Amino acid sequence: MAASELCYLRPKVIANFAITWDGRISTWNRTPANFSSPADKRRLLEIRAEGDAVLASATTVVADNMTMGLPDPALRAVRRARGQGEYPLRVLVSGSGAINPELRIFSETVSPVVVFSTERMPADVKVGLEGRATLRLDRGPDVDLRAMLHVLKEEFGVQSVVCEGGGLLFNAMLRSNLVDEVCLTLCPRVFGGKRGVTLTGTAAEWLPFAVPVRLVRFEIIGAECFTRWSLRV
Ligand SMILES: NC(=O)c1ccc[n+]([C@@H]2O[C@H](COP(=O)([O-])OP(=O)(O)OC[C@H]3O[C@@H](n4cnc5c(N)ncnc54)[C@H](OP(=O)(O)O)[C@@H]3O)[C@@H](O)[C@H]2O)c1
Repeated sequence: MAASELCYLRPKVIANFAITWDGRISTWNRTPANFSSPADKRRLLEIRAEGDAVLASATTVVADNMTMGLPDPALRAVRRARGQGEYPLRVLVSGSGAINPELRIFSETVSPVVVFSTERMPADVKVGLEGRATLRLDRGPDVDLRAMLHVLKEEFGVQSVVCEGGGLLFNAMLRSNLVDEVCLTLCPRVFGGKRGVTLTGTAAEWLPFAVPVRLVRFEIIGAECFTRWSLRV
């Protein structure tokens, strides 16, 4: 597909993860992903600040108690200078729609929250999210991620999305060929175990095809290795 066609259909998607030496993004019991260095956490915010929107599953937002904001005024100033809104649009994905409206992300009103879910969302959640988020509910069993990106582009003017996980959402994005770049910080930890969450979900989750990737950046910083990969090879 030509790059121009791609631009027309959907925003550019950059995913960002910290992974352990053995390829895990979390432990078997999904403890918060705070195993990377302060420098990596700072870089996460810098990468988040690149996007018109930041995307995560509701599972990850709960696990990591995320607000998806940008606490550093300097990053917000850079966005303003680029002509972007001060904060990225915050986008949540959940098939079940089992989302607690009292989550921190909804009380932190820095930028609008858009929830892409399905008609399976419980009625009380729909009511609870009124005034806190814009709902887009698919009729199918899952969210059509390609259509979601198209809506973000056409209706919300989003040209770039930073996907912050987790593994299952990333897996679903890869299956639909919706990822353009991936930032990976390799961290000096080993979590082990087949139930530890990998970059593409648990070890039982498989991709129906191999995804070719190309290394475009490589930097050793302290005990970690920051890498950036293109999926448009
Ligand atoms: N190290 C890192 O950089 C990093 C980054 C992000 C997350 N994490 C960690 O990863 C763990 C969570 O990862 P995970 O793989 O278990 O789960 P996940 O990818 O965060 O979330 C999976 C959930 O996303 C929703 N989902 C995914 N694709 C969907 C689709 N097409 N349509 C509708 N809903 C969809 C579903 O939600 P419903 O169940 O609601 O339907 C699904 O159960 C947490 O421990 C978190 O801390 C680590």
